[in-house]
Amino acid sequence: MDIVRDPQQFQQQALAARARGQVTALVPTMGFLHEGHASLIRWAAANAGRVCVSVFVNPTQFGPGEDLDAYPRNPEGDAALAEACGADVLFMPEPGALYAPDHCTWVEVPPLAQHLCGASRPVHFRGVATVVTMLLNLAQPDVAVFGQKDWQQLALLRRMVRDLHLPCRIEGRPIVREADGLALSSRNVYLGPAERAQAPGLHAGLLAAAALARAGQRDAATLKAAIAAHYAAHVPAGEVDYIEIVDPETVQPVATLAGAALAAVAVRLGRARLIDNELLQP
Ligand code: PAJ
Repeated sequence: MDIVRDPQQFQQQALAARARGQVTALVPTMGFLHEGHASLIRWAAANAGRVCVSVFVNPTQFGPGEDLDAYPRNPEGDAALAEACGADVLFMPEPGALYAPDHCTWVEVPPLAQHLCGASRPVHFRGVATVVTMLLNLAQPDVAVFGQKDWQQLALLRRMVRDLHLPCRIEGRPIVREADGLALSSRNVYLGPAERAQAPGLHAGLLAAAALARAGQRDAATLKAAIAAHYAAHVPAGEVDYIEIVDPETVQPVATLAGAALAAVAVRLGRARLIDNELLQP
């Protein structure tokens, strides 16, 4: 596996690979890689001849007072895991290499950034869309792979790629969880033992809502109230940021389930802000 730090060198290699007719997959990450990221890299290795993984803690998607400086890092561990999962190139640029001091060009997808995480993180998705556009331009991939853990991010990037006619397919992959249901996240290291013990309740509450939906409950307010009640009972240390039911593609809130809908939550548990989601199939 090659480790590349220089964006221009990374792009030159990508253009040469494209000219040779090689199919490239890109897996963008912020590092501190875990089994969730590993599942994306393994999928990429099984479906493309050339696999690029990027590790870059993107400063512009963190708001003031968020955890940019504290964000966990493990470059050696990331390199070992990426290589073991089949990566051919690991792109690890310095922050100053992607953003010029006078950087001023942004990509925004306002309607998809309006709800869920966008409501409490106003600059987050602008930073994500901008850095992913840069990474697609540098890596020139045929396919870019993202996790459904960050469903809103995935939906927004699909829209961005469609709207801008970017020559790349977006592949969304299922959430990898611990045995007790907690979705893997780099931020799970922030959880203390008592918080970690309550954290599986996040998914359990979503599964309770999915069961109600399957049994015929179509009223979003009732389903949200059931999740909130579950959290009050089983995640008492949690401070709910949002519990929302949205259209899976447009990420707009729905009042009544017509077809599949996405139940999405964000809960602060101590220092960690955890997100999770589950598709509700009526
Ligand atoms: P990061 O949080 O490192 O996540 C990188 C990718 O891994 C994302 O597509 C995310 O959805 C996926 N992922 C994380 N946890 C997962 C899990 N438990 N199961 C499956 N997939 C999981 O998302 C970002 O970085 C950044 O916003 C990025 C897209 C790299 C732009 O900076």
